[in-house]
Amino acid sequence: MPPAALAANPVPAGPTLREDVLAGLSARPRRLPSKYFYDARGSALFEAITRQPEYYLTRVELALLHARMPAIAAAVGADAHVVEYGSGSGLKTERLLAGLRAPLAYTPVEISPAALEACVARLRPRFPGVAMLPLQADFTRPLQLPRPPRAPARTLVFFPGSTLGNFVEAEAVRLLAAMRETIGRDGRALVGIDLVKDPALVEAAYNDAAGVTAEFTLNLLVRLNRELAADFDLSGFAHDARYVPQRERIETRLVSLRPQRVHVADLAFDFAEGEAIEVEYSHKYTDRGFSALAARAGLEVVDGWGGEPEGFGLRLLRQAAR
Ligand code: AVJ
Repeated sequence: MPPAALAANPVPAGPTLREDVLAGLSARPRRLPSKYFYDARGSALFEAITRQPEYYLTRVELALLHARMPAIAAAVGADAHVVEYGSGSGLKTERLLAGLRAPLAYTPVEISPAALEACVARLRPRFPGVAMLPLQADFTRPLQLPRPPRAPARTLVFFPGSTLGNFVEAEAVRLLAAMRETIGRDGRALVGIDLVKDPALVEAAYNDAAGVTAEFTLNLLVRLNRELAADFDLSGFAHDARYVPQRERIETRLVSLRPQRVHVADLAFDFAEGEAIEVEYSHKYTDRGFSALAARAGLEVVDGWGGEPEGFGLRLLRQAAR
């Protein structure tokens, strides 16, 4: 892809990895943003998680995108400009583009130009009739979309995977409100959400027997060792993921197994035995809770596929009448 084809919204120079990490490790409780999981190895480990038998989310969502595609395509209509938040592995995107009625254009939205390029290179030959218009931007902000060669009937934002679940309530509302502006009056958003269910099933999904999720979590420390010249001892920390029913979410932390001192970018941090770093929340939703969250962002749920039996849902949103 020639660089000229890559549209870019001004990506605001937010805090750097170093700033986020030093601030997070100094806070109480200590925390590290989950967005930093996804370096090259972290992205590969996440793909491996999606193949674990316990991690039902991806499997169920893919099955829904297959079995319910005729209904999804009917609800979305023809000539849509599909805008995906993140560029993913492409399998869900392929199902969506193959199943919709004559989609006009596809815009993956990503901060990483390399991920955008890989995504478009894979999809372009499979969908010669779909204009590939990647956008380098932060999808938590309102987006200036590239204009397809022909005017689309509507914009369809696709935000699969229950990635929304990684955002705490205030951030999720902000993201959905930005999405509301991006889709406009006639637009729709297709959002994947993991549903509240038997806590044992949820906990198993974040504690797979093969230990892939633990490796994924610990990879964050590997990244800090490499990129910030830190000296985390990987055998000194353990992955700990628990479902907290009152907050309807998985809370993942890295727990220090002994008293220890760690250096990060020339600063020293002392950990007590059992002290934790909060690294990820994965929220689970009820239909009531999700509708209320959407309403706070000026969106309403107009259709949905998958519910309690499947344990995962796709929900179609539009701007609420107001
Ligand atoms: C990609 C954010 C949806 O929270 O379930 C998987 C990431 N973390 N196992 C999730 C993840 C641990 C995943 N999301």
